[in-house]
Amino acid sequence: MRKPIIAGNWKMYKTLKDGQELAVALRRELYKIENVDIVVCPPYTLLVTLADALEASNIAVGGQDLYWQDEGAFTGEVSPLMLKDAGCRYVIIGHSERRQFFGETNETVNNKIKASLKHGLTPIICVGENRQERESSNTFKVIESHIKGGLADISAEDILKTVIAYEPVWAIGTGLTATPEQAQEVHKFTRDLLKKMYQEEISSQIRIQYGGSVKPENITELMSKPDVDGALVGGASLKADTFTQIVVKASEVIK
Ligand code: PGA
Repeated sequence: MRKPIIAGNWKMYKTLKDGQELAVALRRELYKIENVDIVVCPPYTLLVTLADALEASNIAVGGQDLYWQDEGAFTGEVSPLMLKDAGCRYVIIGHSERRQFFGETNETVNNKIKASLKHGLTPIICVGENRQERESSNTFKVIESHIKGGLADISAEDILKTVIAYEPVWAIGTGLTATPEQAQEVHKFTRDLLKKMYQEEISSQIRIQYGGSVKPENITELMSKPDVDGALVGGASLKADTFTQIVVKASEVIK
């Protein structure tokens, strides 16, 4: 059995006060949930405050990116050591917005995954095709390159400490969600690929989240699919009531 994991990616939203209020509300609304791992990934400036606000709760904090060195002359970057120090347990790696706007490649994703694992952070590794790639029937090819490139030289022991997030780029922030069948098809493909790379015993334990316009209205159907183990939520994670509903509904899905 894979424990579902719901993570909120706050992207570049929320100032200190708003973020703190949201964290306090989530803590109050979600304290009873035990069968879902819950994570919030705010901007760097909120990490310490949120780690404090959520201390000893069932909600973990994560970063949205990192640089792979521990320290050095890398202006503007944040290291895994610093994320740990700020109270993070997770970190999102290779989000499509980073691939699209900030030059992230499979190689940098690979370096970042290794760095996060070295410091005991759980990487949430994002993969996914854009609209043109889907329309030209290249979805599986793109997923294969993201997975094989991103996970190069990651051991079986380490892969068990990661979470994969399938996020079709055309569904992110567009209101266009992949159908549960489309999500399941790619999740199954991804798991089969992981099986070839690491054997079934390992691949069957890896959690694969879906991301892209997840909301309270579609979480139940998505989560009902056999290979969908949770969600990476953007827009709907910015409000206490929608994120709460998503987590609660995910906790009610029995497979
Ligand atoms: P969205 O974003 O839920 O707003 O589509 C998801 C993501 O980018 O992780």
